[in-house]
Amino acid sequence: MTVRAVIKGVGHYLPERVVPNAEFEATLDTTDEWIRTRSGIERRHFAAEGETTSQMGAHAARAALKDAGIDASDIDMVVVATSTPDLTFPSVATMIQKDLGMTKGFAFDVQAVCAGFIYALSNANAQIVSGQAKRVLVIGAETFSRIMDWTDRSTCVLFGDGAGALVLEAAEGTGTSEDRGILSVDLNSDGTYRDMLYVDGGVSTTGTAGKLRMQGNPLFRQAVSKLASTAETAMEKANITSADIDWVVPHQANIRIIEGTAKKLGLSMDKVVVTVQDHGNTSAASIPLAMSVGKARGQIKQGDICVAEAIGGGLAWGAVVLRW
Ligand code: UT7
Repeated sequence: MTVRAVIKGVGHYLPERVVPNAEFEATLDTTDEWIRTRSGIERRHFAAEGETTSQMGAHAARAALKDAGIDASDIDMVVVATSTPDLTFPSVATMIQKDLGMTKGFAFDVQAVCAGFIYALSNANAQIVSGQAKRVLVIGAETFSRIMDWTDRSTCVLFGDGAGALVLEAAEGTGTSEDRGILSVDLNSDGTYRDMLYVDGGVSTTGTAGKLRMQGNPLFRQAVSKLASTAETAMEKANITSADIDWVVPHQANIRIIEGTAKKLGLSMDKVVVTVQDHGNTSAASIPLAMSVGKARGQIKQGDICVAEAIGGGLAWGAVVLRW
């Protein structure tokens, strides 16, 4: 018997405040036109003062539980992908566990920056397949607005805040790509790329949270080639080809990266869920946000084969193939 981690529900949360590109023109040497044409971003949401990553994650989790028709008390594992936790510890996952009124099961965070949701999904899948958990909440939640250098036009116009969540449940499968659920995972990292994307502060160095630093152009080139290759590896592992894909759900960093990766995979853009124009780069929240919006738009339907892929600081990158 093959055990599969099947998607039972999806949900998301976006903070109320929407910031259009034009707002940056007042404080930075930038234009709406530059941001749109270089990144595809038109607007992003920023958390309100005092609004936290765990609060946003809990909103998304509630929406996903409602969609699944599952009570929080029936969840036995919560994993949160985030690089912007409320506190150094305890984990955002345990804070969300408390917020949802759960007192059993186990909860922890995963930190793989923009690839975090892929790493968290992989972990949830492994726990379900090994029998450690039956129903898992997988959440991506970020407040990147807290680590922006508002004087650096090359980074602060690109990121946004938000959260997305999936509910996964163990189910019996046949072991083929006809099964619903997670069909394959491919994970990679290479720490020699540290300086391409990092935050210049932390507990054991400066004792501060620090600000995000990025070498955008070299990262752009790494992103397209590494995303296409990890997606191809995940497809090979799932025994499918590009022709079998209904939807690519990419990390939403830059429309040109999304288009370049789709082209390398031989897929037209009408098979790609795109939300970057409305959310900007929400790091580990971007894939579950795109899945939730893609389902709400009527794009992703039960039975569809989806490939999710992401890359971020580390560098860390990876892909998941799943049948919704
Ligand atoms: O989530 C993790 C993954 N993240 C990514 O993969 C991000 C990858 N990188 C990117 O998305 C793109 O590299 C950017 C959107 C960051 C930049 O686009 P680019 O086409 O690579 O531009 P560039 O960095 O080569 O910069 C071109 C010019 C520079 O001016 P000079 O040196 O040519 O005079 C920049 O200083 O654009 C300038 N520039 C800006 N101009 C107006 C940079 N930021 C801005 C800005 N407004 N906001």
